[in-house]
This record gives sequence, structure tokens and C-alpha cells, in this order.
Amino acid sequence: MKPREQILFGGDYNPDQWLSQPDVIDRDFELFEKARINTLTLGVFSWASLEPEEGRYEFGWMDDIFDRAERQNMHIILATPSGGKPNWMALKYPEIRRVTETGQHEVQGRRHNHCLTSPVYREKVRAMNEQLAARYGDREALILWHISNEFSGYCYCDQCFAAFRQWLKAKYQSLDALNDAYWSRFWSHTYTDWEQIQTIDKTVCGLVLDWRRFMTEQCRSFIRNEVEPLRRHSPKIPVTTNFMGVHLDYDYHQLAKELDVVSWDAYPSWHTPQTDSLTSHHSLFAGFRHDLTRSLKRQPFLLMEASPGPVNWKDVSPLLRPGMLRLAGMQAIAHGSDSVCYFQMRKGRGSIEQFHAAVIDHVGHGNTRMFRELSSLGQSLTQMESVVGMPTPAKVAVVFDWESSWILDAAGTQHNTIKQYLETVLAHYKPFWDRGVAVDVVDAKADWSAYQLVVVPMLFLLPESSAQRLAEFVERGGTLVTTYGTGVVDETGLAIAGGIPGHLREVLGIWVEESDALPDPCRRRIKTLTEAKCLSGSYEARHYLDVLHLEGAEALAVYDEDFYAGSPALTRHEYGKGAAWYIASRNDERFTSDLLGNLVKQLEIPYSLNAGLPKGVSAQTRESEGRRLLFLMNFNDEVVSCDLGSSLYADIETGTGYTGLIELEPYAALVLRERE
Ligand code: GAL
Repeated sequence: MKPREQILFGGDYNPDQWLSQPDVIDRDFELFEKARINTLTLGVFSWASLEPEEGRYEFGWMDDIFDRAERQNMHIILATPSGGKPNWMALKYPEIRRVTETGQHEVQGRRHNHCLTSPVYREKVRAMNEQLAARYGDREALILWHISNEFSGYCYCDQCFAAFRQWLKAKYQSLDALNDAYWSRFWSHTYTDWEQIQTIDKTVCGLVLDWRRFMTEQCRSFIRNEVEPLRRHSPKIPVTTNFMGVHLDYDYHQLAKELDVVSWDAYPSWHTPQTDSLTSHHSLFAGFRHDLTRSLKRQPFLLMEASPGPVNWKDVSPLLRPGMLRLAGMQAIAHGSDSVCYFQMRKGRGSIEQFHAAVIDHVGHGNTRMFRELSSLGQSLTQMESVVGMPTPAKVAVVFDWESSWILDAAGTQHNTIKQYLETVLAHYKPFWDRGVAVDVVDAKADWSAYQLVVVPMLFLLPESSAQRLAEFVERGGTLVTTYGTGVVDETGLAIAGGIPGHLREVLGIWVEESDALPDPCRRRIKTLTEAKCLSGSYEARHYLDVLHLEGAEALAVYDEDFYAGSPALTRHEYGKGAAWYIASRNDERFTSDLLGNLVKQLEIPYSLNAGLPKGVSAQTRESEGRRLLFLMNFNDEVVSCDLGSSLYADIETGTGYTGLIELEPYAALVLRERE
């Protein structure tokens, strides 16, 4: 991997839309310099410009951009163009177009709609990548390969199903084994010939789960096919693809194995009102997705795209308030990004994204509020180069698991419209974010050895091996917190024989006999037992209320209403050198905050800032070799006071010293170094 010493600042650039106006491209490069833009992501959707006819390549325009970039000491992230297939190809080779679930070949158009299995498409992609890699693989400006764009969606064509059947045969070896795994005697769904697997029957939950695993595998092998010529020609250039945060089509943990660097595209709906869902708590949800992306490899990531202003594809897209552009960029860096990149550099004049914000607007000059804010951020980033490569020191892991979410989604349960998996994970992430405690967001296959506290909300699918590793984590002194809805099915999607919480029963010291489902707005009170130090008074539970038996654990809170009054609502079990907690009901925010907040205190898990944070202020740190940077970010649209305690800090941009009580301007983002 080429060493990078700069925070990458720039983003998608589509000069092939402006080839008839070279003066526009001249102007762009002047403006890039002005804004301290050091990185261009090139060619994301340029297939038709690079290969206008089959086998006839046109690289002149791209050569020119490389030359210009190198003259200005800029970096290029070179994309492979497979995210958008050209018309000539889609019409000549209709099999590369996706087939819908109902068996219809899609008409050509839009993007991100190629068949991942199609040998023809794979061959075309490989031929294109061979050309790109041979031509640009050793250009000085090239720092990173960007594979395709935002992989998503499934194809249901015959080629995909043939490959799926092969995958199933390799996995199960026999139809008997497959039928057992799918419990397919139910409704007479037994498969008596592999060829009968031609559709994805949503009532066969194990099949749905396997289909999503298979599609992840197809995407992985599609990426491998793309990457092979790139690595052959340019072994030192790392490879990424741009993820989308919480996007559930493919398991990002699996895709990440094919990549050197993980990156993602962040489009929070800044300044839109918060609803009941934590996904509309924009700063929190953005922080969660940054953490999740970083945790895919547990190394710094890249913010590949963000919008410098309103987008064109949401219902209503407010202007970014002054300061928000800087704050959103700093938030990414605070959570472990080594870049702030945007979609896109220059706003096109036509097609669906003509009114999507861009660094250079239709007006064509840099005298706009947004360009000024962006240039000022560019200036700030030049003062922060020491941050590049700095890790994020998390002692807490929160589990968000793709496979578990897939099968929970597929399963028909008593809680169908109130499952809320993501929401539940966010509710258990929030107490840490509120307190400025660093968190890794990992899946159930993670290595727990780096953590003191592992929080596993609603892990519906719990393989025995994961339960075993969690038990070992607790035995060695770790603290595990898990909740209702955990340990229900195994990796085939079959209910775990022996009941809930499956293979965690011994470590948790409980057995869940049944679970109530309360529709909104029903609530049930729970009360703290006097000896519980982590909670106080009473709380409210909703949606999920497990009725459980203690098998060695102690109850710290009980239900206070209904026929299960007196039954445990929170349990703790000492196991080996550690402890395992079970939250039996979906509780109000205060409960989760009290419990997890107290655990942080008891376990002496470090805070980014010791003195506590005002509402809407986020604190994150990046640390290495005794160097520690504190990012203090005010997401409120008003001034707030924030207590830095007795430590002395210096602003790394201005050198200004800070200690004690300070005022943070609306949308302020400070980057501070602790002074000796
Ligand atoms: C992203 C995509 C970009 C652009 C952008 C607009 O999802 O990768 O190509 O379309 O959205 O917001």
C-alpha cells in the first residue's frame, strides 16, 4: 500500500461529461487548487466514454486528467466502471441485464442492475479492468482502486439459479440434508430434485437465508474477478469499494475480506426533524455507521462520498446550515476516516442528478457559500495530517449482524411489526455515543479479545460457535450484555432445540419460557430491586417482555404489572471471572442509559472527555503511541457550554488553549490535542 500522508479531500469527478468544453476542465483544476482538493475519484460511470463501441477504447480524455492531476500533485482514486453498463453492451448481450423476482428481464437503463453471475459481464469487466490497470497501474497519481459502485440488489435469472444450485450442492451434499435444514416437509415443500430450486419461496426461511449468503458470495467472486487484473498490474495499489453503511443486501463483513481498505458513502438527512426512530437522530446514526464501517476491518476507513449540500433523491433536502459541512466531515474523521470526499466535483447540467449539490455549482465559479466553506475545510485538513492512520481505541463492542437480521426479517413471529432490529441496536449504541465512549460495531463472528464490554442486542441467529466464544469471553473476565430476542435460531434458521437463549443458556443462567408481545401504545412497569446498583426506581417496557426462569442468575429488576409481575426483567450471572447480563424486555431510554452508563463506570472504560457531555455534543478520540486527539462536535443549532475539566487542550489548527468551561458555537467541530 502506498503511504499516504494527507487526509484525502475531494471526490467523484466526471470530466467526460464536459469533454466538449475544455475551458470548464481548466477552470475545475484551478478551483481544486483553491479549495485544496487533493483527490479525484475518476471513471465511476464512464464505461460508455472509455469503450464507446465493443473493443474500441478511448483513454485520451482520462490520460489528460491524470496528467493534470499529476501536475498539481493530486491523487486519483480510479474506479472500474461496472456500476453502469453501456447501452451497446446491454442490447447485444441481454443476459447481462438483471431478471426480476417474477422472471422479467429488466429493460436497459438506470444503473447498478447487472447480473453478478453472467460470465459475459464478468468477461467484459475483466477486459476493461485489464486495460485500465495496464494503462494507469503505475501512474504516480494513482493511490486506490475503486471497484464498481455501491453494490446492491439481486438477480433471479437462470444463470444465477444454476450457480445457486451448485452452491447448495456443495454446501449440503444431499437433498436430504437440504430438506432437513429447510424443514421443508412443511406445506409439502420437500425438494426431490435440485432443479426444483428455481425461485426463492419466502415461506422457506432457511432458503431465504441461504439465498442472501449466496448472493453475498456472488458479489465477492464478482469483486475478485474485477480485482485480479488490477492486483497483477499494480500490486502495491490498494483496493476498495464504496459501501452504504447499513445496507443489508450483502454481508459487508464478507465483502470486506476482498478489500484492502473499506469506504462508504454517507448521506445523513441533516436538518430534517427527528421522528420516533433513532435512524432520524442524524448525528447518532451517522456516528454508528462510521463506527460500523471502521470496524469491518478495525482500521481507518475512507469517507468516499458525502453531499456538499442538498441531494436530489430525498423527499425534502434542506440546505446545509453554515458550519454543517465542516462538522459532518470532521465527524467522519473523528470516527476513523482518513478522508472527506464528496459526490461530486462539478454539477452536471442534465439527467437525474442535475440538481444534486456539487462542489462547483452551475454558476461555474468558487464564489459561493458552499465553496467557501469547503475551501475552509480543505485548509483545516492540511493542519491535521498527523491524524492519518491513527486508530480508534474501543473497549466496547456492539453487535450488528447481517445474517441475524436476514433471518429475523424472514421469520414470522409474534412480534412481526415490532421487531425493529436496527432500532434496538441503535438504542444500545446510544448510551455510549451520548457519553463519548468509543465503540466498535462488529458482527457475531468478531474476535472479542480486545473488549471489556460486549453488547449483543437481539441476536436472533446464534451459532453454537459464537455462543461458545462469548462464553469464553465472559469466563476470562469480560462483561456481556444481551437482550430478549437472542439465541432463538441456529445458522440454518431452525429454532434451537432446548429453547431460548439457545447456547447462551448456561452463561446467562436463565431460560426464557415465553415472551409477551405488546402492541403500541401498551406499556408495562418494571421496578428495580433494592440491591441493584445500576438502576433506580421504575421504568417502562414495551413490545417484547420475556418471561424467564432463573437458572443461577440473579434478578436485578422485575416486572411490576400483569400476570408476570415479580418475574425477572433484568438478570446478572457471574460466570468464570466475568458476568453476563440479560435484558428481558424492550425498555425506555432511561433504563438502557442507566444500565450501560453504570457498566461503563464500574468497568472503568475510558471516556473521550471525563467531564460529561451536553446533549447533542459528541466527543470522539483517535489515539496512537501516546498521541491523543479529541474531536468535540456540537450538533445543536445553538451555542452550548461544555466542560473540559481540568485538562489543558490546544486546538490543533489554531493553537488556541482550552480548559474548564468552554462555549461551542452551533455546529462547531474542534480538534484538540491534550497538553502535558
Ligand atoms: C450515491 C452514488 C453516486 C451518486 C450519489 C448521489 O449513492 O454512489 O453515484 O448517485 O449517490 O447522492
